[in-house]
Amino acid sequence: MARHRSPAPRGDDDTGPHGGVPTALAIVHPGLEDLLLDELVALGVDARPSEGGIAFAATPEALAQVHAWSWIAGEVRVRLGRARASSLDELATGVRALPWSRYVHPHQPVEVEISSHGSRLRRGPAVERKVALAIGDALRGPRIAGGRAPREPVRVHVRVVDDRATLSIDASGDRLHRRGWRTDAARAPLRENLAAAVLVAAGWKPGERLVDPMCGSGTFPIEAARRAAGLPPRTGWTHAFERWPGHDPKPLKKALSRRPAAVPTPILGADRDARALTASTANARRAGVDKGMTLLQAALAELDPPASTGLLVANPPYGKRVAPAADIERTWSAYGRVIAERWLGWRVAVVAPDPRLLGRIHPEMRVVLRFVHGGIPVVVGRLDSR
Ligand SMILES: C[S@@+](CC[C@H](N)C(=O)[O-])C[C@H]1O[C@@H](n2cnc3c(N)ncnc32)[C@H](O)[C@@H]1O
Repeated sequence: MARHRSPAPRGDDDTGPHGGVPTALAIVHPGLEDLLLDELVALGVDARPSEGGIAFAATPEALAQVHAWSWIAGEVRVRLGRARASSLDELATGVRALPWSRYVHPHQPVEVEISSHGSRLRRGPAVERKVALAIGDALRGPRIAGGRAPREPVRVHVRVVDDRATLSIDASGDRLHRRGWRTDAARAPLRENLAAAVLVAAGWKPGERLVDPMCGSGTFPIEAARRAAGLPPRTGWTHAFERWPGHDPKPLKKALSRRPAAVPTPILGADRDARALTASTANARRAGVDKGMTLLQAALAELDPPASTGLLVANPPYGKRVAPAADIERTWSAYGRVIAERWLGWRVAVVAPDPRLLGRIHPEMRVVLRFVHGGIPVVVGRLDSR
């Protein structure tokens, strides 16, 4: 991205609580922070860049809004506080002092994940057990009445740097890219939140025609169709914060009831592979948007462009996993020729494993996004309509 916003300086204590409200951190793949920040601000959340993600005050309303409507966030954690951690005992003392009863039910299982830099306390079962036991100790005090402990574990993250630990609790439950509809995956599917970010970086908005000629499991068309229909990113989902003791369901209900208006948007997904079509069709049905798009089996070279232009978005095989590497430059040059000859007037966005391959699509493709996908660093190129 052209812009770069620096994270808050280290001295700026994001750990919270601020005025009694702890700080939440929305986490996303490195490279997508600016897009996530813009998205959260547009959602009315008072968000700002912070180390490791985008920070905001973890009010029930903001947590509800982000979980209901963020397409790009990968997960959200609430920072509970800091503890000195020059020894295991010191860490346990600090952990016991944090307000666990707001987030964990007595007897609820706790999963502890440690990361450690420059500390004697290393990631491993000894530290995890000590932290889990300290949380159990903290929960022996007065309780918030009502309810039995959920069976789902609470995930606690401990980040130890030198002799200080920062403790956060997972608010999302599962990774937010899991939307609930993609159970049929074609080969090398793109994570749903990455696909959503690519659409934003490509300048796509509901109302603009969209074609993905290599749709695989249908991620781009389905993400676009749900947005165009005013549907939230996820379906059938219980977030971790909904299980917190004393959780009030009203803010989330209210956030979900404020749906954007549906915007009629022609969406077409195609793939030359019959299995990809089976997968994308089943996924679109599960996502409730199969009537909002056309899916068909065709190779790029055979696909007739619709009469009016829009965005052509594609995540072609990288060669590393899906096609033989030796052929890849030739293959991408062939895609470029088809696009130049048949898709005149279209804006084009392509996910590629390196900028050279983008040049095979068109020499004027400019890189608008970089991130790591399935362990492979990728770039997103954009070519505005010619
Ligand atoms: C990396 S996968 C796309 C994954 C997709 N974005 C997803 O999230 O599931 C690439 C897809 O391109 C398809 N493909 C490869 N060459 C093609 C061509 N010439 N025409 C149409 N589809 C093609 C493959 O069948 C495969 O499904």
